[in-house]
Order: sequence, then structure tokens, then C-alpha cells
Amino acid sequence: MEIEIIEIPKIKDLRGNIAVIENDVIPFTTKRVYYLYDVPSDATRGGHAHIELSQFLIPLSGSFDVILHDGKEQQKVTLNKPDKGLLIKPGIWRELENFSSGAICLVLASEVYQEDDYIRDFDKFVLFKTR
Ligand code: TYD
Repeated sequence: MEIEIIEIPKIKDLRGNIAVIENDVIPFTTKRVYYLYDVPSDATRGGHAHIELSQFLIPLSGSFDVILHDGKEQQKVTLNKPDKGLLIKPGIWRELENFSSGAICLVLASEVYQEDDYIRDFDKFVLFKTR
């Protein structure tokens, strides 16, 4: 499985950098933005896949691990650079864990929230992938 890390274009400055997501940096139009914060270090977020929705995860602050599963194989990636985000396409199971103190995960999503786009049962996810 390919891990799709996208580098966000930056305007570097000694006064502080600016990272900008516009035009074709990510392959979808953002309809929703949300963020995870105050996540306890022993907590796991995610634990689901999406049927249609794509997401782009940016570690705005701190670090966390993302475990991805495509129905066949699992891979883990650590996100810890605010100018490098992870693209998660539809049909990928994800879990987020090992949040550092103060970590913030910004999520850009291609759709508004729709519970019926979620697959929250791993066995159902594997079945969905073998259809
Ligand atoms: P969920 O997507 O399962 O969280 P995560 O994958 O980050 O662990 O969402 C947790 C709860 O919040 C669930 O009841 C749905 C609700 N929710 C919304 O109502 N709107 C949203 O935009 C999101 C992301 C979640």
C-alpha cells in the first residue's frame, strides 16, 4: 500500500513560515475542516474507513501515528511535520494513536459529515474490500 505524504508549499521566513493549501496541493475540494486536540496519550482515534470521503491529515502541532489498512496489509506512519500531510483516500481503515502532549491533528475532508459514509466494523470493512 502506498503511503501518500504530500508536502505543503511554504513561504519561509525568519519571522516564521507560512504553509498554504490552495489550487491542486490536495486532490479534492475541502467541504469540511475539523481538528483533534487534547487527545490523551493512551487514546486511539479513528477506527473506521470511509466509503466516498477523502481526508488530508496535518500534524499542526506535535506528533501522532496513523495506522492504515487497505484490507490486505497494514502500515504505520508518524506525522510530525506541519508542512507534511497524509492523504487518506476512500476505502482505507485508519487508526490514530500515540499523540504527543499538545498534538493537534487538522483534518481537511472532501465531504460534510455523513455517518452513512463510515464503516466502523473492521470485519465489515474487509468484506467491503473483497466485494
Ligand atoms: P469520528 O469521526 O468517529 O472520530 P475520529 O475518527 O476522529 O476518532 O467521530 C466521533 C464522533 O463525532 C461521532 O459520533 C461523529 C461525530 N462527528 C460529527 O458529528 N461531525 C464531524 O465532523 C466529525 C468528524 C465527527
